[in-house]
Amino acid sequence: METLLLDGKKAAEALLDFLKPLVETLDPKLVVVQVGDDPASESYIRQKVKSCTEIGMRNEHMHVPKDTSLDQLLEIVGRLNNDPDVTGFFVQLPLPEHLERHTPQIIRAIDPKKDIDGFGAYNLGKVFLSKDFEDLPPATPSGIVRLLEHYKIPVAGKHAVIVGRSNTVGKPLAIMLLNRDATVTVCHSKTKNLGDMTRKADILIAAAGKAKLITADMVQQGAVVIDVGIHRIDGALCGDTDFEALRKKVSAITPVPGGVGPMTVASLLRNCVRAKERQMGIDS
Ligand code: GUN
Repeated sequence: METLLLDGKKAAEALLDFLKPLVETLDPKLVVVQVGDDPASESYIRQKVKSCTEIGMRNEHMHVPKDTSLDQLLEIVGRLNNDPDVTGFFVQLPLPEHLERHTPQIIRAIDPKKDIDGFGAYNLGKVFLSKDFEDLPPATPSGIVRLLEHYKIPVAGKHAVIVGRSNTVGKPLAIMLLNRDATVTVCHSKTKNLGDMTRKADILIAAAGKAKLITADMVQQGAVVIDVGIHRIDGALCGDTDFEALRKKVSAITPVPGGVGPMTVASLLRNCVRAKERQMGIDS
């Protein structure tokens, strides 16, 4: 059986094409707040701004110095909350060391109506309720669900095993897959016999942040594999799975890069459009 490559660039293009006319009508504006010069953040932000430009979405990149204080950052967040021209915004993570432990407070300060990352308690709480309340879901889980939908991979009744329990990927993805009637297992760094768990997956999502953690012996023949990781080793990019070894065994797999990454960006832009619709009282 031929292994299906889950092309996130193509699926993201389809979502961006869908958003383009909505952007033209609704004219939302997205703002990125960057504190300092983390090189990975620079690259992520470039991709987000590029996709905004591609679909004609107004955007602004607010780049403030590394030594910005918590009060200064909260003041920026407050200004963006109160600016009626700003539809949605996010503070790119990770923050510099002196701000890192304040991340929950900063996320809490963002108006839920403008929280296009979907990281705040209000939007995460809505994800908990049911699929119908997923208005501003976190972009990576949302992108993964959309990628599966794009390739018509059924989720209901399947056993999804997620490796990684972050608030931004693993935990919300578990809820979103439950909302779609999957049976979900969440594994993490303290899980015993990880391979025994991952081998039971119909759909395996690797989101542990550890390069090539998932080896071929840890997957079931014919499984669908979604790789959320991105790492640079000796100049080459790789994910949380041993892609070349896995692709011979599984039925479908995401490449790294070009899998989950573009879907995350497109889903973030989708959230900005959705935020604008809700601000205008439009039910989609
Ligand atoms: N850093 C890496 N991914 C993300 C994301 O989706 N949102 C924010 N705010 N920061 C990130």
